[in-house]
Amino acid sequence: MTWKSTKKKIVALGGDGIGPEVVDATCSILERAGFALDIVKPLNGDLAVNQGKEAFPDETKKLCDQADAVIFGAAQTASLPILFYLRWIYDNYLLIRPIKFYEGLGSCLKDPSGIDFVIFRELSEGLYPGQEGDLSLLVERLPDFRGKTGNAFADYGKGKFAVRIVSERGVKRLASYACQYTLQRKKQGYPGKLTCVTKSNILTESDGLFQGLVEEEVNRFPEITYEHYYVDDAARRLLRYAREFDVMVTSNLFGDILSDEAAELVGGLGLAGSAAIGGKVPLFEPTHGSAPKYAGKNVINPTATILSAKLMLEHLGMREEAIALEKAVAAIFKEGKTLTYDLGGKATTTEFADAVLKKIK
Ligand code: IPM
Ligand code: MG
Repeated sequence: MTWKSTKKKIVALGGDGIGPEVVDATCSILERAGFALDIVKPLNGDLAVNQGKEAFPDETKKLCDQADAVIFGAAQTASLPILFYLRWIYDNYLLIRPIKFYEGLGSCLKDPSGIDFVIFRELSEGLYPGQEGDLSLLVERLPDFRGKTGNAFADYGKGKFAVRIVSERGVKRLASYACQYTLQRKKQGYPGKLTCVTKSNILTESDGLFQGLVEEEVNRFPEITYEHYYVDDAARRLLRYAREFDVMVTSNLFGDILSDEAAELVGGLGLAGSAAIGGKVPLFEPTHGSAPKYAGKNVINPTATILSAKLMLEHLGMREEAIALEKAVAAIFKEGKTLTYDLGGKATTTEFADAVLKKIK
C-alpha cells in the first residue's frame, strides 16, 4: 500500500472501539468533497488484532513515518502504543484543543454563545512520560531529600512515586508557539490574550519554572495581554467566565483535565477535535475515547474527528477547504435536523457525514 498521487499524503488510522467509524466518516467527507488529499487506510488497532495481526504493523508504521499528516480515531488498549508512537516518538509536543460554540449545540451553561478559545496543552512532559517507581528507590538514592512538609521519602513507608518533568526546552518551545499563535489570532480579530495555568503556589520549582518561562516569552510581545491562574481557579473560571479566554497554555495533565471540562461548555466530547503538532509528522485526533459500548453501531457523532480534520487542513495550508468544512458542520448544527443521539437526534454516523458533505458541495 502506498500513495499514488502528488497530493498531500494522509494516513488514516481508526484505532479501537468507535475509532474506525469516526475516521471512516471523516475520510469519506474529505474524499468525496474532492479535497487535494491522498488518504491511505492501512490495517491497525482492533481490526488488525481481530485478524490475528499486530495492532500497529510495521507497514502501517512506515506509512505514518512518510505521511504529511496522520488522522487517528481512538485508543482503548490495543492502540495505545500507536498513540504513544504518534505523540512521543514523533515528539509532537503541542496539543491544540479549540473550544468553540456553534449555534444550535447544547451546553452545560445557560448561555454558551460567544465561547471561542483554544487550549494549548504541553504533550511531551509533566506526569505523562510515566517516570514512576517504588518509593524504596528514592529512599535509597535520596535519603536526605526533604519536601515542603519536612518529610523524607522514608517517612511514607511503602509506596510508589511519579516524577513530573518540566524542562526548560519543553516550556520554551511551547511558550514560543503559544505566543505566535496568540498574535496570529489577534490579527484575525480575537483579543490576543494568553492565559497561563499552573500550580506554581505549591509546585514552586517545576511550575515556578513553567510560569516564569512563559512570562519571559510573553514579555517580548507587548501586544499580548497576559494573565496567570492557578489550575483550581482556572477550572472554576472555565465554568463562570468561559467567554473571557482566548488562548490558554498549560502543562500536560492540567491540559488533559481542563480540555475535557471545557468541551462540555460547547456541546461535549463528541465535538472536540485536536491537533498534536511540533514533531516529525502531525497528528489529528478527537479528544474523546473509544466508547467500546457503541462500537460497530454507526451511531457515534463524528464531529470531533471532522473538526480535527479541519485543523489538519489548516495545518497543511488548505485554508479554504478548512473553512468550507467548518462552515458545513456549523450549518448542520444550526439547522438541527441531522443530529446524532448525543445531541438529541436520530441520525447515524454515516447520515451525519453525508449531510456535512452536501453542505460543502
Ligand atoms: C486525551 C486522552 C489521552 C490522554 C489518553 C487516551 C492517553 O485522555 O487525548 O486527552 O490522557 O492524553
Ligand atoms: Mg483526555
